Amino acid sequence: MSKILVIGSSGQIGIDLVLELRRRKGVNNVIATDIKEPCPTLISDGPFYQLDVLDKEKLEWLIQEENITEVYLLAALLSAIAEQKPQAAWKLNMDGLLNILELGKQKKLKKIFWPSSIAVFGSNSPKLNTPQHTIMEPSTIYGISKLAGERWCEYYFNKFGVDVRSIRYPGLISYKSKPGGGTTDYAIEIFEKAINKELFNCYLEKNTFLPMMYMDDAIRATIEIMEAPPEKIKIRSSYNIAGTSFSPEEIATEIEKELGRINIAYNPDFRQNIADSWPDSIEDKYARNDWGWSVFYDLPKIIKEMIKGMS
Ligand code: SER
Repeated sequence: MSKILVIGSSGQIGIDLVLELRRRKGVNNVIATDIKEPCPTLISDGPFYQLDVLDKEKLEWLIQEENITEVYLLAALLSAIAEQKPQAAWKLNMDGLLNILELGKQKKLKKIFWPSSIAVFGSNSPKLNTPQHTIMEPSTIYGISKLAGERWCEYYFNKFGVDVRSIRYPGLISYKSKPGGGTTDYAIEIFEKAINKELFNCYLEKNTFLPMMYMDDAIRATIEIMEAPPEKIKIRSSYNIAGTSFSPEEIATEIEKELGRINIAYNPDFRQNIADSWPDSIEDKYARNDWGWSVFYDLPKIIKEMIKGMS
């Protein structure tokens, strides 16, 4: 039986992941941890510890104390916020990962999940259907840390047999917890403004396409890659996975079909440069072939779920 530790459980992915893992594996087999206290009510029905992933001693103690076998490491600074605090972002995104990989090397963990991102690509990568293997020259500190992290994951697998698995998440759309400091966050804020009939001040140009995915698909992908037999995971850096792809104008038009006219102003800020350096869409044949990934939610389905969840 696996005993799971989720690090960064109060973040956008953490909440949904903890809820789903607890549903599948039992509440007491999934320990939620976050640097922030108190833990959000959604996950307060089960075990929670306050933990900074950079606190190596407490991390080791907790893993031993709770007989942890698997770690999902979600604690990170995202793209927009990392541009404001590059040193802090590098420290958290890299040292956090290295702390966990070391525990894997010491055989204190059986399996590790660590998320990468579409931010590993840069303006010299092909923009449409960006392939798994291509030029990768990220220009954000977030992307640089994710690309370096991918190389560390592959290295620890090859050199020490650490069973670490990873996905390059696109922008994730969800309503249970707010996103924190990403470039793709506009695609969530737009729902809030449309539902409340408020002006939506969009920080990206209307024709900026980005790869996106509904949270339920991302959580399912995460659990599926973790449950796949090890021999099926042939890529030990990180897998491309594709959901959908749209621009602010396109999602606005689709939301308007459900909610009526949205009042939008387009005022691009520094996040426009970040978005411009990322792919428009992603090609994911390796994830499909190796461990059977397939997307479920297209844009109209995402919109229906979001409106239902947020209203
Ligand atoms: N959603 C993330 C961001 O915008 C991308 O991984 O930073």
